[in-house]
This record gives sequence, C-alpha cells and structure tokens, in this order.
Amino acid sequence: MKSKNSLKNNNRLWEVAKKYIPGGNMFLSKRPERFLPKYWPTFYKKSKSCYVTDINNKKYTDMIMSIGTNILGYAEPNVTKAVIKSIQNGNMSTLNCVEEQLLAKELIKMHSWSGGAKFARTGGEANAVAIRIARASSGRDKVAVCGYHGWHDWYLSSNIGDNNKLNQHLMNNVPIKGVPKSLKNTVYPFEYNNLIQLKDIIQRNEIGAIKMEVKRNFEPKNNFLEKVRKLADDNNIVLIFDECTSGFRQTFGGLHKHYKIVPDIAIFGKALGNGHAINAIIGKREVMEACNSTFVSSTFWTERIGPTAALATLDVMEKNKSWKVVTSIGKKIKKKWRLIADSNKLDLEIKGIEAIPNFTFKSKNNLAYKTFITQEMLKRKILASNAIYCSISHNKNLLENYFNILNDLFIKISKFERNSENFNKVMETKTCIGGMREDNK
Ligand SMILES: Cc1ncc(COP(=O)(O)O)c(C=O)c1O
Repeated sequence: MKSKNSLKNNNRLWEVAKKYIPGGNMFLSKRPERFLPKYWPTFYKKSKSCYVTDINNKKYTDMIMSIGTNILGYAEPNVTKAVIKSIQNGNMSTLNCVEEQLLAKELIKMHSWSGGAKFARTGGEANAVAIRIARASSGRDKVAVCGYHGWHDWYLSSNIGDNNKLNQHLMNNVPIKGVPKSLKNTVYPFEYNNLIQLKDIIQRNEIGAIKMEVKRNFEPKNNFLEKVRKLADDNNIVLIFDECTSGFRQTFGGLHKHYKIVPDIAIFGKALGNGHAINAIIGKREVMEACNSTFVSSTFWTERIGPTAALATLDVMEKNKSWKVVTSIGKKIKKKWRLIADSNKLDLEIKGIEAIPNFTFKSKNNLAYKTFITQEMLKRKILASNAIYCSISHNKNLLENYFNILNDLFIKISKFERNSENFNKVMETKTCIGGMREDNK
C-alpha cells in the first residue's frame, strides 16, 4: 500500500499557539496530541459540508465533524443564510431576541412532557444551570451522576478525595486543582447499568438530582432507564438527561424519546445549532419554575445567532429527516467495521450511539493502532480516528473510499498483531493520548 502524501510537521504553530494560550483553548477532545502528535493540521481556514481546508490550503474529508456539532455538515446553506440575516439585522440589542421564544416553543412541542426552557451557550454551562434548577427544585444539594457533563466545579468535585471516580465517565486522573475541597461528598458517580450502586448512593445520601447520559457506549440493560426513573420518582429526585451529545441523532429530539423514558429536565447542545453556540435546558413546568427562586442569568444568553441557527437547523433536520439518515449511516459503518475486522481476524470492540460509532482494538497496542490509522488516513487527506460523528454529508462514495483505505490498514494491523511486520518501523510520530473514557495505555 503506497501513501499518496507525506505528512507536514505542524508542531511549530501549535507550540506558538500554546505560548499565548496555555494548553490551547479548544475542547480537550480536539487537542492535536489526541489525534496525531506533530502532524495533526490543528488550524483551519474553511469548512464546508464534510470538508475542511487547513491553513496550508490542504483539503480534508472530515469523519470527526468537530466532535459532533454538525449533523447537517459545515456551513449548511439554510442555517448560514438565517445566521447572516440575523447578523445584518443586528445580533444584539438592549431588547431581547424573539427567536429564543420561538425555539422554546419548538422544543416544548417536540417534547410534550416539558413546559419550560432556558438557553445557554455551552454544554458545561447548560449542565450547571440544570443542576442549579434541580437543587433549587428538590431542596437537596447532593447529586448522583453518570457520564460526562462538562468542566464545572460541581461535576469535577466528584474526584475530591478519590481521583479515580471519574475514570470511566471522563478520563483517568482528571486534574482538579482549584475545585473547592469543601465540595467533597456532594456528587457521586455511578456506573451505567449499575442500579445497585445507584440505589446504594441514594440510600446513603440526601440526593436531590440524578444526572446522566441516556446512553453513550452501551445499551441500557434490564430496563435500566425505567428503573432509574422509578427510583427518582420514589425518592422525589429530579432526573436530568444530559443529551448534549445524544440529542437529534436518533430521534427528532432527545434519545430518551427512543427509549420512551421521560426525564424532569433534558439538556441539548452540540448539534442543536449545527455548529453555532446554543444549548437548551428544557424541563417540566413545575421543576423549571425553580428558576424564579435562584439567580441564573447571562449577558450573552439573548444573543441572536444561537437561537436563530437552532431554529433553522431544526427546520432543515425536519425536512431531511437527518436523524434517520445519520442513524442509518452509523449502522452501516458498524456493520462494515465488523466485516473488515473479522475478515482480517482482528478482535474489535464496536460501541456507541448508532450515529456516533466507535471502535477499540482488544490489543495492548490499541492506542498505537489508532494513531497509525490517523496517520495513514491523514496522508490520504482524511481526518479520522476511532470514532465517527455521522453527518448527512457523509455520502456513499466518500464512505466507500474510507472503507477501502481502512481495510488496507486493518490488513497491516493484522500483520503487526501477528508480529509478521514491524509496527515501530511504520510509525512516524509518538502514540496519541487516549480520548475521553479511553485508557492511556
Ligand atoms: C454529554 C455531554 N455533556 C456536556 C458536554 C459539555 O459540553 P461543552 O463542551 O459544550 O461545554 C459534552 C461535551 O462533549 C457532552 O458530551
């Protein structure tokens, strides 16, 4: 297999960026070291559909889609048009934008159990708002959590006194310096599908809120979601589904609609504005009324681009039935991964929400193989790792090309696994750092 391109060392620019912005400013999952140390293109000039042009004018096909913000593809024409119009007409004023009301109405219509909405700009922020509302509503401070919910103190405090508590929800040894130690024993993580553990947490503590992702990597087992709902009801606990990532990928709205389990609060982000900053917190009317007994407020919450983009996004999603399209693409990807892994006798674990499939090699070299795939895909102008955030712009031809390349790489990896070829010889850089919920072995 011959590579079409050599890799360009992009480290210098990234090092310069870190001089001005310690650690870089991006979402942790977008850090170059988490893809391909030294060679990851890092900075972009233009994005359109599922193509990204870097600052050296190299154009790539993107399988990662900004970690899930653009189900409809980058710069979707209808969304962009609506946003441009809102900018031309003034995206900000002393008066508030009417688009947020319209968006609240739409989201409530889509989730008939809900009766109120608030809006924020980021997922972490929306999660903090939801926790505040839940604590105010239940009158109890303690929280049981499962999944990833952002960078704020309330969530990271889970690790005070035991730095392993968030290992399977976020990553091993999350650094938490600066999170007040006084928050110790306020938030208790539980494993997905582990009802006994959740019951135990509720029995031992005055839990006011349960916050969880509806599903991330594994299917709910033994009616897990129904049982969590019942536990919340029996103990007067506010149940929050964090659908920042799962929302709009399998249904037109929350993934909870698919499982037919209703929360008290749901949070949507990422895909809601198709790349524009908007997050929604929707909830049952009586729970959301707690907003009036606490201070939640922000200057930029009435900024117009976010809700305008969300309204246009929902419109295009509804017309295209995008949740059906991306779910079908994701299912095909999972099937094809299984096929080429089996035909190359590779032990591959395949997981994830249908529209966000991911794989792991059951090998001590998992991370090294993942890095190798990114390295070789990059040479063929594809931004790829071990997870795909499906977009309606991932068409058949593009996927076929991706699978042909991946099959060639799996043939190689199969040889590395059987020691019939030397892996170290083909690696042109260091192994990447593991992603969220991934061991750094
Ligand atoms: C389920 C979930 N909640 C919250 C967040 C945090 O959102 P943000 O990065 O916009 O702050 C994420 C981001 O990946 C997420 O997946």
